[in-house]
Amino acid sequence: MWALLGLVGIWCLWMGAVWAGGWAVLTLESWPENVVAGEPFTVRYALRQHGNHLISRIEGTVTAVHTETGERLQFTATDTDETGYYEATLLLPAAGEWRWYIDSFGRFEMPPLPVETGMAVPAAAAAPMIWLAKLTSFPWLLGFMGVVVVGTAVGLWRRQQTRFAPVAALLGVTLCLAGFVVTPAVGMVASETAVPPTAEWGEILFVAKGCVTCHQHDDVAYNGIRTDMGPNLSHHQVGAEFLQLWLRHPAQVRPQTLMPNLELSDREIEALIVFLSGDGETGVKETAVK
Ligand code: HEC
Repeated sequence: MWALLGLVGIWCLWMGAVWAGGWAVLTLESWPENVVAGEPFTVRYALRQHGNHLISRIEGTVTAVHTETGERLQFTATDTDETGYYEATLLLPAAGEWRWYIDSFGRFEMPPLPVETGMAVPAAAAAPMIWLAKLTSFPWLLGFMGVVVVGTAVGLWRRQQTRFAPVAALLGVTLCLAGFVVTPAVGMVASETAVPPTAEWGEILFVAKGCVTCHQHDDVAYNGIRTDMGPNLSHHQVGAEFLQLWLRHPAQVRPQTLMPNLELSDREIEALIVFLSGDGETGVKETAVK
């Protein structure tokens, strides 16, 4: 009798934990573009508990499996300074298609990632390269180092060390330029010349941004966490202008809505609109014509 009560108690606790912990929406901050074999790249994602509450300190791992060879790699994600945002630096050593998923508050399968041919990298070089990539993702740190070196040059000059001062000054100015001017500029150019807003990309974003957690869509194969909290969007025809407003800021359209603001960029919104309105090469239009 007591054993039975105990079992029931444990079951209730477990169910309670499941419901209290609930579920989360994982949103990739941006879809990794132009990934090259052997070159490290950083993936950033946000985790929203129950779809609306940015949650920190959840362990995360990113797993990538090469579709053909079956090679499997795992990378650890870490908390960033921004609440609810996480980061992982990946290095995929071989070209081809990689299937990948993120485990953090459940498993989030991502659309397959194409990797272009690059330099072959020996496994031993992977870790130092990941570190280097992490350093250059803090351009201000480079710039700051430049300021320190320029300061040192001035100090040398005043101590009549005129032989080293110009060298140090040159190095410092170069670091400043690299940190404060060149790296940010390259980043801006790269983000402007990125993937055009096509229906295919919209479909990828539908998964990568976490729309799939709350919305079904016939064109999207997905077998991860699903709440079906929002309407099925397979044939949900609303105007592009409405979608523009809605995807940018749902609560500004309907203050009581349960749909979160996923902080999408203009290009991402455009691609999602093309995908959702079905004027790309997806199956939506055909079914609408029939
Ligand atoms: C946490 C769950 C959640 C996520 C994530 C989510 N939605 Fe929604 N969405 C909803 C709910 C709930 C509604 C129902 C409308 C409301 O709340 O007023 C909705 C409504 C919509 C509608 C219909 C609006 C209308 O009134 O016709 C569209 C289109 C839509 N969502 C697109 C998206 C897209 C695209 C994404 C991903 C970028 C997304 N949603 C992510 C919950 C979500």
